[in-house]
Amino acid sequence: MNFITNPTMSLTVDECKRFEKQGWIGPFSLIDDNFINATLDEFHLRKSEFYWPNVKDEYAYDKSGKLLWFKSLHCHLSRVSEIVTHPKLIKMLTVLHGKRIMAWGATITTRHPGQAHRWHGDIEHYKWTGLSVFLGLRNASSMACMKVIPGSQNWGVTPQELGELSEPELLAKAQQFDPEASIVQIPCDEGDYFIFSGRLWHASENTSQKTRTALIAQYSGTDEIVLIPPSYRTPICWDDMLRPECIIIDEI
Ligand SMILES: [Fe+2]
Repeated sequence: MNFITNPTMSLTVDECKRFEKQGWIGPFSLIDDNFINATLDEFHLRKSEFYWPNVKDEYAYDKSGKLLWFKSLHCHLSRVSEIVTHPKLIKMLTVLHGKRIMAWGATITTRHPGQAHRWHGDIEHYKWTGLSVFLGLRNASSMACMKVIPGSQNWGVTPQELGELSEPELLAKAQQFDPEASIVQIPCDEGDYFIFSGRLWHASENTSQKTRTALIAQYSGTDEIVLIPPSYRTPICWDDMLRPECIIIDEI
């Protein structure tokens, strides 16, 4: 199965500067419809081998060790592995983050019509620095993708730490850091991706009538000590023994 894009394409200097300022860049095309179908077919076939936490779970991983961490899809599903190591993506990520990176997490998220994910910063990337990739799979569109507050990656605080706030209240807090702060809805269709700073404030809401799936991949430099969060409840009590499976990737 072929990817549809030119793997040698990278980011321009202007795009790198824009990423630095706004904390995200894209969208760019990566995979075609056949590849999306193959990825989701493999995912649904193997999904039960992974541990899927939800907001009620005390743990983010299976303490019995029988199930795999839900963010380790890239080390076990061949299509996900192909996506996270795709040359076009790696070329951009290494330009932004350094010659040698590691993919420490990849998972597939589902959002039903009307379903939302609250404003947050990814807690792992507040423990260590890194980049994340959002790749739209089935029914991805500007009505079912992600919204962000550009520049928030530099403020050193997560929305979670600010408490339960409505969106207007959160924006008002953001404007205390930057009076120009605004909420931007990122357009991202099926097969397209964008790269964002792991510390960027983001949220998702599916305002369409169709269930949306997306792949989230997370990368860091190889000098970082990456860990599995014991839970997603703050404050996080990190455990140095809980290490995720990683793929190390060199500049192309
Ligand atoms: Fe997130």
